[in-house]
Amino acid sequence: MNKFFTNTLILSLFSMLLFRTENLEAVDGDIIKIRFSHVVAENTPKGQGALLFKKLAEERLAGKVEIEILPDSVRFTDEQVLLGLLFGDVEIAAPSLAKFRRFSKSIQIFDLPFLFDDLEQVHQFQTGAIGKSLLDSMLSRGIKGLNYWDNGMRVISANRQLKAPADLANLLFRIEPSAVIETQYRSLGANTFVLPFNRVYDALKLGLVDGQENSWSNIASRKFYQVQSHLVETNHSFQGYMVVTSVHFWESLPPEIRDTLKQILDEVSLEVNRSSVEKQRDSRELVLKAMGKDRVYNLNNDERAAWRSAMQPIWEKFRSEIGDEVIDAAVGR
Ligand code: LMR
Repeated sequence: MNKFFTNTLILSLFSMLLFRTENLEAVDGDIIKIRFSHVVAENTPKGQGALLFKKLAEERLAGKVEIEILPDSVRFTDEQVLLGLLFGDVEIAAPSLAKFRRFSKSIQIFDLPFLFDDLEQVHQFQTGAIGKSLLDSMLSRGIKGLNYWDNGMRVISANRQLKAPADLANLLFRIEPSAVIETQYRSLGANTFVLPFNRVYDALKLGLVDGQENSWSNIASRKFYQVQSHLVETNHSFQGYMVVTSVHFWESLPPEIRDTLKQILDEVSLEVNRSSVEKQRDSRELVLKAMGKDRVYNLNNDERAAWRSAMQPIWEKFRSEIGDEVIDAAVGR
């Protein structure tokens, strides 16, 4: 190889390297990376919502944002993710509303049993002034609520038939970390065990707990029906989510990017809430088929009234923690 050729080769390799480094720096410097963590499967309303958010954000803010979805508790359980947001390990999460007690006592309103009969009543509350204000109830703790997302109403599964509230006595239920849910089971003579969502299937399978409560889509996607013999359709409380970020991260975003992300989240919320209705229906059908209809108990009106009156005293127990204004707004809607 002659000298001229060697020098040219070295020079062009050097300039290619320089060009690459400059480009990488530009990419690293300009693209805002957003990690969105959640604990459920991708074929659930929340899993699909997170994917749609990624698609729309990367289309409309191409070259400006990059979204990484961390589904299925791969990086954080719900118990860890709120601290993760505050320490900058993750930018967006969508824990169930039962998981915010350490940050806002008022959000416990959503766990009160038999307060909301259906999703329509939940939406009426969420879109009213008090419901909206709960999105800001954790600002002083560094967490900002962006949107509410639906999952569905909770039903109860166990390894024994449950028809009446008294049937729960002495059973051990896996629950989310909610004082309201704990009180709900204790007031019926049952015991509770707080476990992260990614441990529920194994806990049921191993017989570590006797039962659990969840939405149809979680019971179907996690196959809880394979490790439970019975289910009762109580629809006693709302299992939904709050999409949250840290105040620090949100305020550090350039205003036009922040506004576009919020607009996308608003659109995604509508889609999540629309599709979750179908998802619950399909999941319910799948579970009924797999378990057999006779193992899924459907309460008649009198039985439902008995469950309601067994659990309703809990509203008053939590009135002072949740706040009169919030309870009255939810009851009055
Ligand atoms: C649970 O822990 O049972 C649920 O909150 C999981 C989820 O995110 O739906």
